[in-house]
Amino acid sequence: MKILIKNGTVLTAEDEFRADVLTDGEKITAIGTDLPENTADRVIDASGKYVMPGGIDQHVHYSFVYKGSRVRGFETTNACTVGGTTTVVEFVNQEKGRGLIESLSDYDRNYVKGISMVDYAFHPVLTDARPEVFEEIKDLPGIGCITMKLFMAYKGQFFHADDETIIRALAAGKEAGVTVMLHAENADMVDYLTKKLIAEGKTGAYYHALSRPPIVEGEATQRAIRLAEMCQAPVYIVHVTCREALSAIKEAQQKGLPVAGETCAHYLLFDESSLALPNDEGAKFVCSPALRTKDHQPYLWEALRNGWLNAVSSDHCGFDWAVQKHLGMGKGCTFADIPNGAPSVQNRLNAIWTYGVCEGKLSRQKFVEIMSTNPARINGLAGKGHIAPGYDADIVIFDPDYRGIMSANTCLEGVDYSIYEGMEQKGRPETVLLRGKVIVEHGIYTGKKGDGKKIFCRKDQ
Ligand code: URP
Ligand code: ZN
Ligand code: ZN
Repeated sequence: MKILIKNGTVLTAEDEFRADVLTDGEKITAIGTDLPENTADRVIDASGKYVMPGGIDQHVHYSFVYKGSRVRGFETTNACTVGGTTTVVEFVNQEKGRGLIESLSDYDRNYVKGISMVDYAFHPVLTDARPEVFEEIKDLPGIGCITMKLFMAYKGQFFHADDETIIRALAAGKEAGVTVMLHAENADMVDYLTKKLIAEGKTGAYYHALSRPPIVEGEATQRAIRLAEMCQAPVYIVHVTCREALSAIKEAQQKGLPVAGETCAHYLLFDESSLALPNDEGAKFVCSPALRTKDHQPYLWEALRNGWLNAVSSDHCGFDWAVQKHLGMGKGCTFADIPNGAPSVQNRLNAIWTYGVCEGKLSRQKFVEIMSTNPARINGLAGKGHIAPGYDADIVIFDPDYRGIMSANTCLEGVDYSIYEGMEQKGRPETVLLRGKVIVEHGIYTGKKGDGKKIFCRKDQ
């Protein structure tokens, strides 16, 4: 099938220009002006629209379990498509007593393959630090994984990793060409503050923020960088939220250390006052690290503009409010019982376009870079993240004139709330192609279960 996208403005991370884009099968085959219509099976008029590479969300959770609550799975990935995301990278926890690779392949077979509606790759998460697990790290590139993750946070949970585990993972990752990603929060500081707040009767959702203030993230980010420096290994800090963490990252980068990081849309757009919403609505915004005070946000935008942070992810967690997050606040419960994480995959592009690009905080090129091109490079997603001949035809035709209101009612995330409820939306992905197949038309999902395929990640794509 050949599709010709006519008269749009092509956006890349470097440039924008009027051009037609031709796809043939799964690939982009030509870009030019006045490409002939008669050889195409279908012509899409993109006049007045932007033509950009499909979004890549490198930080999603479709299998996260927090104190017994499990998020919605890959059967809800149609939400990605209508939001312009065509590839996700999912964190897969190693199961207790099993290997990283075994856990990944079982998860793929049972919960992802034949179900995902977008392309996908995996970050294995090391949770069970037996000696043979570190041996496995050298085999990860052979199964298409060039990243892995550990959690410095969450003391008492099976996925928490201590410094020794992190050092051993960094050292093995360095040998194998696997970049370690870290959730950087000091678990003991959080544990101490949590117990203290609860003992003082401060149990509501707002106290989640006070139990993990910026110093908790700043200390762990600094330590993560020092551990990586000792191992001469690269390190990637996920969901950076605050000045303290940013200054550690910037200082390391200025010293020439291979340290990089991302932030998430909610840290740019919401602050800790959301946690104080009445009637337990604050529970909707419980995620870790916690939302910060507003004064951190200009630093995050600046870090994106300057490349100190190189991506904006969703950290999507499809928990719903009424049954999971709200009941977490039932009788005798405290903020520490609320599942951490919020649904947000669908509106990542819409929110950052509306409140970043339209408000002059980011250029359109930077938008493409942090939403697609950089995540493709960081995760070794060869053939993705750019509009050029030879690349996968993962394409978003974006209508900048669309106006709407974001709401759970129009979300396909399979949960009962949206953190973006009631917020204005400027622009939307009108048509979306996944490897040459139209999967969204007029903003409506038209693809089918299993359209997504697993992508083999390669270093230096
Ligand atoms: O609160 C969050 N972010 N939940 C998901 C797991 C994680 O920490 O990334
Ligand atoms: Zn995390
Ligand atoms: Zn996460």
